[in-house]
Amino acid sequence: MSAGSPAAGVIRVGVIGVGVMGADHARQLNTAVPGARVAAVADADPSRAQAVAADVGAAAADDPLSLIAGADVDAVVVATSDPTHAGLVRACVGAGKPVLCEKPLTPSLAETAELVRDLGESGAALVSIGFMRRFDPGYAGLRDAIRSGRRGAPLVVHCVSRGVSSGPGATSEYSITGASIHDLDIVPWLVGSPVSEAAWLAPRQSREADGLRDPQLLLLRTEDGVLATVETYLNARYGYDIRCEVVCESAAVSLAEPRRVLIDADLTRAGDYWPDWRGRFADAYRLELTTWVRAISSDRAPRGPLATVADAIAAAEVAEALIRSMRQGGGFVPTQLSRSVRP
Ligand SMILES: NC(=O)c1ccc[n+]([C@@H]2O[C@H](COP(=O)([O-])OP(=O)(O)OC[C@H]3O[C@@H](n4cnc5c(N)ncnc54)[C@H](O)[C@@H]3O)[C@@H](O)[C@H]2O)c1
Repeated sequence: MSAGSPAAGVIRVGVIGVGVMGADHARQLNTAVPGARVAAVADADPSRAQAVAADVGAAAADDPLSLIAGADVDAVVVATSDPTHAGLVRACVGAGKPVLCEKPLTPSLAETAELVRDLGESGAALVSIGFMRRFDPGYAGLRDAIRSGRRGAPLVVHCVSRGVSSGPGATSEYSITGASIHDLDIVPWLVGSPVSEAAWLAPRQSREADGLRDPQLLLLRTEDGVLATVETYLNARYGYDIRCEVVCESAAVSLAEPRRVLIDADLTRAGDYWPDWRGRFADAYRLELTTWVRAISSDRAPRGPLATVADAIAAAEVAEALIRSMRQGGGFVPTQLSRSVRP
């Protein structure tokens, strides 16, 4: 993942798409990631690009392709809307620049497979995927506890991902490809076995869900027999709430509640929730960006748990099986287990 000759050892990053996530990445890159500086930003909305550029002291590029081609940009973060990722990743790889693409790599398995085949092995090696939960200290501790072997083999995983409200235009399919996709990546990463079949379920229609099938309950079975439940509830209203418990043969291991403050008063204990992912996963985004920048700076730097296109394919295969299960009204559907798709 070499970036050529970065100026004075600093990786000059271009950020494409500076909405909620891209603006957060740009600020983290400039303030919390050693060896990185945001050189340019681009957005389909020029006023947004200019505002973030002024905020981080970068240039506002006229368009994404000129940013990618720019001699002042060594590497690119893509944080645009999901359907635009493939074209931008192709352009970055065409320019020989490392790219960290937000999840999902594309919204469908077919597009992901086509993109990865086109990139080829050397092109795919330039691409990292924003599955940042792998960098969250809580999930990392959970994985260490499971993998230590002292708790026995993992048997069951319970995942919960709840948010305050779905974004504009969200669909029942997006709930899987855009939200549950984090759990579809993290379950096999935690237990060390790919998902071989998946089933979709939903309870009665919620009045909070704006016509979506929300919440959804997903069942995953891994190749070596672990069962996982994934509850995704985009419109849970009360806060951004991420939970995970792994039941092993002789112990249950859970994420601790990441509340910042607990207030004991009036015969009650109360704690606050983050309003969205930016606060809850701030450490994970910072560590992900730091690992990515280090890997670009030195081909020998460990990539840590940085997700690859193979991980994007694996998650897209499970998402596709779940969408098929949803459309057929439920029931287990096998995944392709990625044996047919190689860069
Ligand atoms: N890893 C995570 O935890 C996480 C969390 C939220 C969002 N995301 C991902 O980040 C990406 C952005 O999500 P968001 O919530 O910031 O969305 P957003 O709508 O707030 O921002 C997207 C931005 O991209 C711009 N854009 C869209 N198409 C473009 C194009 N072709 N060229 C240039 N700019 C373009 C839009 O104008 C907008 O400013 C999505 O892929 C989403 O799935 C990841």
